[in-house]
Amino acid sequence: DWTMAAYREQAIAAIRSQVGDGRVICALSGGVDSSVAAVLIHEAIGERLTCIFVDHGLMRKDEGEQVVSMYREHYNIPLVHVQAQDRFLAALDGEADPEKKRKTIGRLFIEVFEEEAKKLERDGKQAEFLAQGTLYPDVIESVSFTGGPSVTIKSHHNVGGLPERMNMKLVEPLRELFKDEVRALGRELGLPDHFIERHPFPGPGLAIRCPGAVTREKLDILREADAIYLDEIRKAGLYNAIWQAFAVLLPVQTVGVMGDGRTYEYVCALRAVTSVDGMTADFYHYDMDLLGRAATRIINEVRGINRVVYDVTSKPPGTIEWE
Ligand code: XMP
Repeated sequence: DWTMAAYREQAIAAIRSQVGDGRVICALSGGVDSSVAAVLIHEAIGERLTCIFVDHGLMRKDEGEQVVSMYREHYNIPLVHVQAQDRFLAALDGEADPEKKRKTIGRLFIEVFEEEAKKLERDGKQAEFLAQGTLYPDVIESVSFTGGPSVTIKSHHNVGGLPERMNMKLVEPLRELFKDEVRALGRELGLPDHFIERHPFPGPGLAIRCPGAVTREKLDILREADAIYLDEIRKAGLYNAIWQAFAVLLPVQTVGVMGDGRTYEYVCALRAVTSVDGMTADFYHYDMDLLGRAATRIINEVRGINRVVYDVTSKPPGTIEWE
């Protein structure tokens, strides 16, 4: 793609001129955006980039390990892997309010990130720059959300507030791009297809797909159900036709029957939407057979779920995530 080849050269030149001989720290989320930003900055300034991956334990199944192995095996980018799962769970303990959950995760993320950045100081001097995979729609949404004058629909979890606090300058090489352009740039940079095509994943992770209070047990149940659902979508060849698909574990138990016995277990909701930028979305119109297969497998293979429902809400009026 000649446009992306040109964009790549231009972006690398811009990063070099902004950073000079300074150092950059990048918060990796495991998503496409921060990864493309990291690989691009690495091309521009090499070893003067360090990535920090704060593992909050709210990732999808096996995702934390995949991120770490991709960076260590495919790229030579210095990566700090912070195991902060227990800290995040402890901070979220008993909290059921969606905004408080988001804020708790955002605050703790900053705390952990600051501690790690401090460890990277050289001669008492911290890195001058913080890299972020901010996209054009993020720039717009943070100015005014679709909901009207200065209404915060959801607080966004990113490293917002961090640059000022740590007195760091921002490097945002993707802020003119839409998601599909970031994917094209990622391909141009040689990132693996399965990684580039990955559906977007929110910063607060599975915590906002677990309405109500989050527990380790609920996260484990949700991870299994979500993996089965995505497996069925991939087998049907639909993964790339969908913007985002995921399972939500509802804090509701219902009665079911299994063999000769009565069951009383959680309800799992499945969500899938099409979208261009996440700002509006339509629910995905599945063939019912796929939903049936996913439901049967989830109920048979995941302990703790005995009922599956499908979310047919578009955005607006719904949001993509449930919290
Ligand atoms: P909503 O639920 O607001 O989501 O319709 C729109 C898109 O944004 C993602 N999302 C987030 N991404 N931090 C992120 O980086 C967040 O706090 C966050 N909340 C929602 C969501 O997955 C969807 O793609």
